[in-house]
Amino acid sequence: MQTPLIDPFARAITYLRVSVTDRCDFRCTYCMAEHMQFLPKADLLTLEELERLCGAFVDLGVRKLRITGGEPLVRRNILSFFQAMSERLGNGLDELTLTTNGSQLARFAAPLADLGVRRINVSLDTLDPDKFAAITRWGRLPQVLDGLRAAKDAGLRVKINTVALKGFNEDELFALLDWCAAEGHDLTFIEVMPMGDMGEEQRLGQYWALSDLRARLAQRLTLTSLAERTGGPARYVRIEETGQKIGFITPLTHNFCESCNRVRLTCTGELFMCLGQEDRADLRAPLRAGLGDAMLHDAIRAAISRKPKGHDFDYTRGVAGQMSRHMSHTGG
Ligand code: 5AD
Ligand code: SF4
Repeated sequence: MQTPLIDPFARAITYLRVSVTDRCDFRCTYCMAEHMQFLPKADLLTLEELERLCGAFVDLGVRKLRITGGEPLVRRNILSFFQAMSERLGNGLDELTLTTNGSQLARFAAPLADLGVRRINVSLDTLDPDKFAAITRWGRLPQVLDGLRAAKDAGLRVKINTVALKGFNEDELFALLDWCAAEGHDLTFIEVMPMGDMGEEQRLGQYWALSDLRARLAQRLTLTSLAERTGGPARYVRIEETGQKIGFITPLTHNFCESCNRVRLTCTGELFMCLGQEDRADLRAPLRAGLGDAMLHDAIRAAISRKPKGHDFDYTRGVAGQMSRHMSHTGG
């Protein structure tokens, strides 16, 4: 039995988010440039390396694993990785889950459910096919709706993640809400974050504060704030009229760092101890040096001992977007 991972601020690290690829079959405007320069293959961890590293985190007390990207389901043979991780379910791991754009779910929903995945997050910003094509550049809405149907058929619980974008999906607030209620999906709104390299003008222009979104909901509906926290940035309300639970992720207007229980592993084996800081630890080098488990564990512990107290996003400093990283690099 290993001592669990505790950071310098007494937070237990029990949640690992893993980006398995920086590639994606979409090019969402707030996430990627249209012509992305992707990482050379040799820099990526192999699926076997990812398995070993994630296994080490589970050995050290990680109980929840979220697979992200880029789009995780475009990584070749990704099911073999899910297969390996599913063997840790009930054996250290409580939950194996993923965040996906839904494009490949028609094919993958059933096998993922068979491997013990119970809940998935699916990104969807609009229900209008033309707007969907515009915001994702390469995506097509019917493909995602087919995927969502397959997820439902496979018995997966779905949480829809919607990035709140001023002048883009403001007019769909209630349509999205009603659609999620009808489909039985949970819904979480995300404030657009200063990532990637989109122009400052565009980014600031798209910023729609969730405090405003929430106030608009409250004009028509009765919202009750829920105390429950998941250790992450989301806060929840219940809509009394429908019983729906709605999440808000507001990295810019609320500070949620004090309860942070997570770290992020990139597809190249860098561990980001905080989404909003540049500090990272290279775990690929120890992995490729052929070290035994004990030394790999030491490398992970050393990284966790550097986890900072909090992040530092701020639109008010004049320089919007201090982070030059793309979301597809750290996996959101
Ligand atoms: N701001 C907020 N959310 C983002 N995502 C990607 N880029 C950004 C950004 N700049 C979200 C996607 C998806 C998740 C993986 O990250 O919409 O829901
Ligand atoms: Fe792909 Fe998700 Fe980024 Fe869109 S937001 S480009 S779906 S990784």
